Amino acid sequence: MEVPVENEAEISQRIVERMAATQAENADRHRHAHRDAHAKSHAIITGQLTVHDDLPHELAQGIFATPGTHEVVARLSSAPGDIHSDEIPAPRGFALKIIGVEGERLSPDLGGANQDFLMVNFPTLAFGTVTKYEDMLDILEKNASNPAAAQKAVSAAARGIASITEKLGRTPGATVQGLANDYSHMLGETFYTQAAIRYGDHVAKMSLAPTGEVAELTGVDVGDDFDAMRTAVVRHFMTKGATYELRAQLCTDLKTMPVEDAAVLWDEDESPFRVVATVRFDPQDVGGPARRVAGDDHLAFNPWNGVEAHRPLGSIMRVRKLAYESSSRQRHDLNAVARREPDSLADLTA
Ligand code: HEM
Repeated sequence: MEVPVENEAEISQRIVERMAATQAENADRHRHAHRDAHAKSHAIITGQLTVHDDLPHELAQGIFATPGTHEVVARLSSAPGDIHSDEIPAPRGFALKIIGVEGERLSPDLGGANQDFLMVNFPTLAFGTVTKYEDMLDILEKNASNPAAAQKAVSAAARGIASITEKLGRTPGATVQGLANDYSHMLGETFYTQAAIRYGDHVAKMSLAPTGEVAELTGVDVGDDFDAMRTAVVRHFMTKGATYELRAQLCTDLKTMPVEDAAVLWDEDESPFRVVATVRFDPQDVGGPARRVAGDDHLAFNPWNGVEAHRPLGSIMRVRKLAYESSSRQRHDLNAVARREPDSLADLTA
């Protein structure tokens, strides 16, 4: 079902080289290397994921075929590749690492036995193919000295792409709406893989939705707090926990739910997100220095760190295999720290 984009290898190579060059420039400026994307973390949170034991056959696939509980670690972030004030609009990231899963590994070189799901708080990626993603890099690079302008320009371009996709009779990406809505408390947001993955015998997109008290959280008062999102998340976990449902949306029609363009919204009326696991985070200190260094400098999350049964699909996912390896290698090298794939939460030390 995967169809390569014309000149995909060349486009992908260019994307990775450009991103690596920006990452190296940022590292030189800060005397410290950050991620090529999602550089700013807000919190590193540990918890537990329980795979439901009553799943119907079509949902009991891959790592969800075996009911049980796993340790998890999550890194909450903002999307840009540099650290900006939370006053600047930005998509938010929720990277979830499920520790100790069974199955043939996608990237044995990464080590460990974990499954990562990387999610953002919109259901689609407006720049949903490698060709469109390269166009977006042009905008970001032209506006590198002015991050607020860059975000606005990307948003405007996303509108352009949305209108093109609309003309093609497809549903436009949700990124534009998302950018308008970005002072939401991120613990109350719903997060999506945006692009498709294999789901055992099926194909799916994954999503994480808040339940209970966190589902009620709404806006964050940004004021002039550079780190308003971190302040809000750290404050929440000082006294309260959070629960989420991990959900799978199965592809039921490859024409209306394609894997090659992550800008196309899979209609929830056609195929709803269905709960496969519950994630629980107890109250804890999520912003201390040891956590931040462990999460930011040592850990890496990667959509290709997982099992074959959840192989990422589509050109955006294929370029990510190169991009995440490059970003992680460069930042670990420049910071002279070892990349650690944890075998348990006890390994999460700075
Ligand atoms: C399908 C849509 C995408 C989603 C949902 C997504 C999500 C994320 C998230 C949540 C993170 C933060 C991971 C962490 O906390 O360590 C991240 C990091 C990153 N993303 Fe993406 N991303 C997407 C597409 C892309 C694309 C198309 C590229 C590049 C071609 C890219 C490049 C990166 C890089 C380089 C990192 C940092 C990796 C590291 O240094 O460990 N992402 N992404």
